[in-house]
Amino acid sequence: MHTIALMPGDGIGPEITAAAVRVIEATGVDIRWIELEGGEGARRRLGTPLPDETLEAFIQCGVGIKGPFAVEMEHAVVSPGWRRGTSGGRPPKSYNSATNALRREAGGFAAVRVARNFPGVPAPIQGIDIVIIREINEDLYVASEYTVGDDMAVALKIITRKASEAVARFAFEYAKSHGRRKVTAVHKANVLRQTDGLFLKAAREIAGEYPQIEFEERFIDAACALIVARPSLFDVAVMPNQYGDIFSDLCSSAAGSLGLGAGATYGTEASLFEPVHGTAPDIAGKGIANPVSEILSGVLMLRHLKENRAADAVQRAVEAALLDPNNHTPDLGGKSTTQSLTQAIIERVPQFMS
Ligand code: NAI
Ligand code: MG
Repeated sequence: MHTIALMPGDGIGPEITAAAVRVIEATGVDIRWIELEGGEGARRRLGTPLPDETLEAFIQCGVGIKGPFAVEMEHAVVSPGWRRGTSGGRPPKSYNSATNALRREAGGFAAVRVARNFPGVPAPIQGIDIVIIREINEDLYVASEYTVGDDMAVALKIITRKASEAVARFAFEYAKSHGRRKVTAVHKANVLRQTDGLFLKAAREIAGEYPQIEFEERFIDAACALIVARPSLFDVAVMPNQYGDIFSDLCSSAAGSLGLGAGATYGTEASLFEPVHGTAPDIAGKGIANPVSEILSGVLMLRHLKENRAADAVQRAVEAALLDPNNHTPDLGGKSTTQSLTQAIIERVPQFMS
């Protein structure tokens, strides 16, 4: 039996996590779900968007699945206290969101975002099948900013060899274990010679350890253009934090909808599975959110748990359900609901389990 931390979160989170739980349970995999509070709803009820109990239980489980957490800018900083005094003198840290606190306290170092077309689903671009691997602790998103007087602001971009090597190695291992043929390092080292230059150098060195996997380098701006012009050039793409943030939304939307984008953050202590998008406040509570992003995040989780038969069955059930436009939610141009798309997927799971 697996024990999984389940954090429904805010907005459409409770609707789509409930859908993912139902689909995963339809595979028969034995899971005990530990439901935990987190996000803006938790802050309103409990005074913090990340209760210590949630972080502690997540790390104890080693695996968690979450819905999106809303972030209110003025309440964004949380300082998890559960390790105070037990971390060899490490001071408690502050984070700019509860989601980042979860990822980083669990030793998260690589985020995976899957973007691909589905047969039968209309999309601005066809031919996308890309796994984006994003460094998640460094780059401009250390958010080390300051102002100089009223008219100037500065942000630091931090890149280390250690984090760059770790994420590059993760990308090659991912490619190797998932039957992927190529890793592309995405950067802007022609301008940012020191920071992106170091990232690229680390990626090149790691590439040398994997001669069986093709290695390519592309500038981030050119990579964006190629997603429109020749998306099949990409297979696995590894990049620094900010480029990965932007590139993964671009790729998910180009492939049809943010509501199809699955994601995960792999950490040394625990791994977290969650969609690429946010709480979708414009459609929350209406029963029309696309649950596929959360369900496919569940597929990544099943693979992480080595439940490959169940993972394959859910993946194929999603593909089969999406073939029928009657199952498309409004983000895909259809009239279906979260419930009926979920039901269509559940009905198809058994045929792919045998
Ligand atoms: P968003 O991703 O929530 O919404 C962008 C657009 O995509 C909206 O039109 C929304 O309806 C649509 N959309 C997203 N997911 C969908 C789905 N599953 N089905 C159908 N349509 C979908 O981005 P936004 O509005 O910028 O952020 C809303 C909140 O979410 C903010 O508080 C933000 O901080 C938070 N957020 C949380 C994340 C997390 O917990 N990992 C990630 C990104 C944003
Ligand atoms: Mg983002």
